[in-house]
Amino acid sequence: MKKDDYLSLVELWSGFPGTTMTGADSREGFESFLEMNGEYCFSVLLNNRIVGSVMAGHDTRRGYIYHLAVDESLQGKGTGAALMSAAENALRNAGIEKAHLFIYSDNTAIRFYEKTGWHTRHDIEVMSKVLIGEKYLGTRTED
Ligand SMILES: CC(C)(COP(=O)(O)OP(=O)(O)OC[C@H]1O[C@@H](n2cnc3c(N)ncnc32)[C@H](O)[C@@H]1OP(=O)(O)O)[C@@H](O)C(=O)NCCC(=O)NCCS
Repeated sequence: MKKDDYLSLVELWSGFPGTTMTGADSREGFESFLEMNGEYCFSVLLNNRIVGSVMAGHDTRRGYIYHLAVDESLQGKGTGAALMSAAENALRNAGIEKAHLFIYSDNTAIRFYEKTGWHTRHDIEVMSKVLIGEKYLGTRTED
């Protein structure tokens, strides 16, 4: 994934209701994530168009997965699984033992993750606190 991919990636992500865009998805936020985690982030290019993405990173303890997306016209051909393998391998090579991701409970992509070896935790609640701004918590537009 490259900084120049930004606008094409925003277009890809915007097409999916299950993918929330937040302040972290500003160009500045995107570039700063790539500076820290670029080796764990991958874009898929087909005929000069970005058709897939995954952004992964870690804080030296755990890995995190964001913005897994595959253009609708290409879904069901193994691209999502290949993207996840690339991100997981990169994290594994950095010595990260476990990774987490957040997904809305009604997103059918949960089935995809289950097929690729992820499991839902029932012993953990996600707790959040807004640190900048006065946004409400827990709505689709402000995760
Ligand atoms: C989730 C997503 C990335 C999967 O990409 P993909 O390229 O279609 O996935 P793959 O073709 O690699 O699928 C791998 C396996 O998961 C299955 N699968 C994929 N999406 C599925 C779904 N929504 N429901 C059930 N199974 C699914 C595939 O059938 C395949 O199974 P198989 O190995 O038995 O054939 C894609 O559906 C997507 O972009 N969704 C919208 C964005 C999104 O919600 N992302 C997650 C945000 S957290």
